[in-house]
Amino acid sequence: MPKKLRLGILGGGGDSLIGVLHRVASHINDNYIITGAVFNPDFKLNKAFAREIDVPLNRVYTDFDTFIEEEMKLPESERIQVCSVLTPNFLHFPMAKKLLDNGFHVICEKPMTTSLEEAKILQKAHKNAGTVFALTHTYTGYPMVRQMREMIKAGALGKIHKVDAQYYQGWINTIIHDKKKRASVWRLDPKKAGISSCMGDIGVHAFNLIEFTTGLKVQSLLCDFNYLYKENKMDVDGTVLIRMGEHVKGVIRSSQVATGEENGLTIAIYGEKGAFKWEQENPNFLYLLSDTNPTQVFKPGHAYNSKLSLDGTKLPPGHPEGIFDSMANIYLGAARAIRGQKYNDGEFPTMLDGVRGMGFIEATVKSHKAKNTWVKI
Ligand SMILES: NC(=O)c1ccc[n+]([C@@H]2O[C@H](COP(=O)([O-])OP(=O)(O)OC[C@H]3O[C@@H](n4cnc5c(N)ncnc54)[C@H](O)[C@@H]3O)[C@@H](O)[C@H]2O)c1
Repeated sequence: MPKKLRLGILGGGGDSLIGVLHRVASHINDNYIITGAVFNPDFKLNKAFAREIDVPLNRVYTDFDTFIEEEMKLPESERIQVCSVLTPNFLHFPMAKKLLDNGFHVICEKPMTTSLEEAKILQKAHKNAGTVFALTHTYTGYPMVRQMREMIKAGALGKIHKVDAQYYQGWINTIIHDKKKRASVWRLDPKKAGISSCMGDIGVHAFNLIEFTTGLKVQSLLCDFNYLYKENKMDVDGTVLIRMGEHVKGVIRSSQVATGEENGLTIAIYGEKGAFKWEQENPNFLYLLSDTNPTQVFKPGHAYNSKLSLDGTKLPPGHPEGIFDSMANIYLGAARAIRGQKYNDGEFPTMLDGVRGMGFIEATVKSHKAKNTWVKI
């Protein structure tokens, strides 16, 4: 068994949403050990949380710059090798860039940056660094999403002509109507979230899922946002028409004010021979629709699944795995890449996905502002 990779964590403190997902996922396949962190900008809270989860306090730093400075003083055999960036969006770029410039491997939350320009700078830094960069579009790690990708690649649907992806949440409905509450949410603050709330936070997952599963690229789009209030600067709902070719079209529907919706990410891909339907809230069922045959249901862990799908399942069929396992699959792929081991294409989203995602987010904002016109990505 190779030694565990020394993992640093930035953000993702006890007060965060996503921290626990990364911590659990990094442990699932026994590849990482959390060695140091800046969980929180408040040093007291930072240390208290480190104590709670047993991270050595001498590797818990006051801030990110000190983290880099102190880690770089350590011999390579002790230094943190890979760092997860789990902070609010505006810190992804400066943190990931400095990590890459100092030779660290990076696992970064989406959206990768707050602009396409930053994304391109990061891409250059990554090329120079030659280290591994994984972007955590969590949903690509699900065995049934991987199965869709592999079967589409093998021609199961024939020519694709229509794609419909939806990501509906409702939680901002409980916040947006109250000015005070609205001001307390970083996702609604352009300085912290970037140019978009809804498309930047969740629409981009739907976009990524489309490109990941179909292997096609969105070439142009037309977007219509809803801000609900004039003084609210951030989209909380948006509908995007997409073109992926002359005869390949679709729609991305995304909302944070879809009242009562929880984490409703769904995708439907229609081709000349069949169609796939999958939903994140029931991730272990993949439906293959046909005009002539009864609907088939694919499930994880069965030998009929592809190598990439089976690689993401740890238990025999009927033992439900979920979002922790999906994220763990991304961590597993990144660990293989960091160790220089062989890994399958599609095991983790890359820098390229990050640049595509930022291109998508910027194009949606541009299209809406230009009174809903078609914009190229
Ligand atoms: N992949 C996914 O499915 C998914 C899901 C949720 C969130 N996210 C992404 O994860 C990121 C974090 O989202 P969240 O919902 O966990 O946010 P959050 O507000 O719940 O948590 C942010 C954490 O970052 C810490 N932090 C803030 N500033 C910091 C600094 N300067 N140094 C160190 N730590 C700092 C906070 O203390 C907190 O612990 C966002 O970019 C978001 O888009 C991704």
